[in-house]
Amino acid sequence: MYTAILFTWTDYKTIFFPIISFAYASVSVRSTAVFLKACLWIWIHLLLCNVSNQARTEVEDATNRPWRPLPSGRVTNLQAIALRWVLVFVCIAVSSVFGWHLVVSTLTLIFTTYMYDELEISSHGVGKNLCAVGGYLSFEVGAVKIMGESTTLNPASTRAIYVSLLLIFTTIHTQDFADMEGDLALGRKTLPMYDPEIPRIATMLIITTWSTVLPIVWGIGPISTAGFVAFGSYVSLRFYIWRTAEMDRRSYLIFNIWLVMAHLLPIQARAGCISW
Ligand SMILES: *[C@@H]1O[C@H](CO)[C@@H](O)[C@H](O)[C@H]1NC(C)=O
Repeated sequence: MYTAILFTWTDYKTIFFPIISFAYASVSVRSTAVFLKACLWIWIHLLLCNVSNQARTEVEDATNRPWRPLPSGRVTNLQAIALRWVLVFVCIAVSSVFGWHLVVSTLTLIFTTYMYDELEISSHGVGKNLCAVGGYLSFEVGAVKIMGESTTLNPASTRAIYVSLLLIFTTIHTQDFADMEGDLALGRKTLPMYDPEIPRIATMLIITTWSTVLPIVWGIGPISTAGFVAFGSYVSLRFYIWRTAEMDRRSYLIFNIWLVMAHLLPIQARAGCISW
């Protein structure tokens, strides 16, 4: 269990909490049991993606995140690869308990993970974003279907998913600021490396724009809108002002809190509880 948690540790903030919040906001959850089932489903799929990914990033992780299972020697490379394929079957089995429509989400996720890791689409800028969007889509659709106990998505959830995908597609690169040194060592070219200034200005504009647009899209009340815009402006300014790797890591963490909030906004469309 500890090893599994280490594999998934950096992605509770980027995947687990945003997706859970999102699914919770988009449908009315009928019981705690259903909520927990959705948590388990997300977690086991996150583990699949992360084991697959980390079986390939041992070298990079040795400098950036030496505590991860592979660089710290808890798991050998061969064991990680074996686990990655075992998890493919575990995930399909878990999903089949919920029905074939969940298996579809699992298969899409397996496919995007395969593209990302085995076919190394991740080393191309846009390919990386598209894989991230594909992954997010599978997680969101799966989580919403389990929590909503439904085989289909209602129009509100569908709209929420489209908005979320655009949001992810335009902001996924925020993680690259902090990882610049590691990526450079691996010869990977990420957006922030092209220019010291433009990606940071773009990030600032993108986050402030979303902070203003999302409250309008979801029709939340004036006080919450002001709060969300203020927090978003703070996050975006951080990326522009503080540029050390340490500060970028902090900014990315705070950005993820903003991301969770952004994913909770659809609750307004369903329950109207952010009207103040
Ligand atoms: C974990 O999996 C998620 C979902 O595919 C991915 O976005 C993330 O980059 C992975 N992280 C690691 C450290 O493997």
